Amino acid sequence: MNINDFIVQVALPEHRVFAEEICEEMAESAKARGTGIAKRSPEYVAGKISDGKSVIAFHKDGTWAGFCYIETWSHGQFVANSGLIVSPKFRKAGLANAIKHKIFELSRQKYPKAKIFGLTTGLAVMKINSDLGYEPVTYSELTQDEDFWKGCQSCVNFEILKMKERKNCMCTAMLYDPVEQKHDVAKKFAEELHKKPKLYERFMRIKQSLVLKPKPENKGGLKSLFLMFTVLFK
Ligand SMILES: CC(C)(COP(=O)(O)OP(=O)(O)OC[C@H]1O[C@@H](n2cnc3c(N)ncnc32)[C@H](O)[C@@H]1OP(=O)(O)O)[C@@H](O)C(=O)NCCC(=O)NCCS
Repeated sequence: MNINDFIVQVALPEHRVFAEEICEEMAESAKARGTGIAKRSPEYVAGKISDGKSVIAFHKDGTWAGFCYIETWSHGQFVANSGLIVSPKFRKAGLANAIKHKIFELSRQKYPKAKIFGLTTGLAVMKINSDLGYEPVTYSELTQDEDFWKGCQSCVNFEILKMKERKNCMCTAMLYDPVEQKHDVAKKFAEELHKKPKLYERFMRIKQSLVLKPKPENKGGLKSLFLMFTVLFK
């Protein structure tokens, strides 16, 4: 199985029939990982498909294989590529990478001035985002739109987010800024993640201990941590 076995495209209205299967897989995968997730309904996912704001992937035999959609916040100043899911039988073939690249391209076409961001606990997504030019940032650099943060209420870590007054949580925030983007920093981080996956585990362990510290940490703490790793693990 390789990436040439799949078709990755902007979803069309007739693909709404897959909304239920997509939501079921999102919920199942979140349960299996024991991590949090912002819950989506089939109606919501179908709406994204109708609006031309999603990317869907199929195996060439027609089986649904993956999905991701665009959300906008702060009146279009911020875009998030959310709900990334790859069907378990098609994982590790480069499909998430292809879907994320396609949805990134669609986001840049539709919202060329928007900052694109994501919150994730996963190494796969951190790698892909770094390749695309996202950089780790503090939560204060993300949208402050209340509706975005309401999505975290259904996450198992929501109490931590509340306790940290929305300044931090278990997810790593990553941002692509079309104006101020410094590809060199993101690229360096991407290279390090590819060369030394253990780096990520250390990064997450230290980040999580920072998150769970009783005192509010230094605002620039995560950024410094990330920069420290890019230097130490060359
Ligand atoms: C995370 C997920 C989308 C990855 O899909 P995928 O198609 O298997 O990913 P890819 O094959 O494109 O892999 C992308 C990179 O991540 C790595 N990767 C993939 N799954 C990984 C995992 N579970 N742990 C660590 N690295 C992983 C790959 O090795 C690859 O790195 P490389 O470029 O250095 O080879 C998929 O496992 C999934 O749907 N999980 C459940 C939902 C989820 O976690 N969504 C993300 C929410 S933020």
